[in-house]
Amino acid sequence: MTGTWLAKRRKDQYYRLARIRGYRSRSAYKLQQTIRTYGIVKPGQKVVDLGAQPGGWLQIARETVGPEGLVLGIDIKEIQPLHSPNVKLLKMDVYAEDVPDRIIAELGGPANTVLSDLAPSIIGAWDVDHARQVDLARRALEIAEKVLDHHGNVLIKLFEGPERKKLQDDAALFFERSRLLKPKASRPEASEIYFLGLGFKARWHQSRMGPTG
Ligand SMILES: C[S@@+](CC[C@H](N)C(=O)[O-])C[C@H]1O[C@@H](n2cnc3c(N)ncnc32)[C@H](O)[C@@H]1O
Repeated sequence: MTGTWLAKRRKDQYYRLARIRGYRSRSAYKLQQTIRTYGIVKPGQKVVDLGAQPGGWLQIARETVGPEGLVLGIDIKEIQPLHSPNVKLLKMDVYAEDVPDRIIAELGGPANTVLSDLAPSIIGAWDVDHARQVDLARRALEIAEKVLDHHGNVLIKLFEGPERKKLQDDAALFFERSRLLKPKASRPEASEIYFLGLGFKARWHQSRMGPTG
């Protein structure tokens, strides 16, 4: 970490706010702003957060769903416990085949919202980082198709680049409405953007069990 990088971070308003309010990441504000604008998470809902470590999004999601809701955080890295009855954690690779089944089991049914802030470890070769990130986003979409309830929502991080448009177009087919967004808390220089899908069209029980006559 360079001195300039550290100085910049200290000046960053979201970094400072996150420290004051006890959020584990400045990213918490990206989700908070998106929820405030689009209402993608509501009290009492079931939410899964893919790539949840260190847990800033989990903290915002848990505050939003409240005691009647449930948030499940999944990451390949260990997430420090949040000590909340409405938060569950799984240490798993999202590419593991049984991830959708584990989500349904842990939530006790389909999810109302699937969040994905999944990102690979950045190696600095832009095309490689982009390709690996979009592949993670595609996996998030695949999982969402299997676990989302009818009318459910997704928020999926994407790195800008040549693969972004194809994934966005594919994802849009599953939702009544969709758009790309960049929350104010996302650094302007960061190549990240978020796909928002509202109103999942398939019925959860049909997609899992086939149409019922
Ligand atoms: C940008 S961070 C998420 C930050 C989080 N939203 C927050 O607010 O604290 C991206 C996360 O994706 C996770 N990740 C990357 N590849 C993964 C994989 N194959 N399976 C599960 N998690 C993965 C990383 O370990 C990392 O913690």
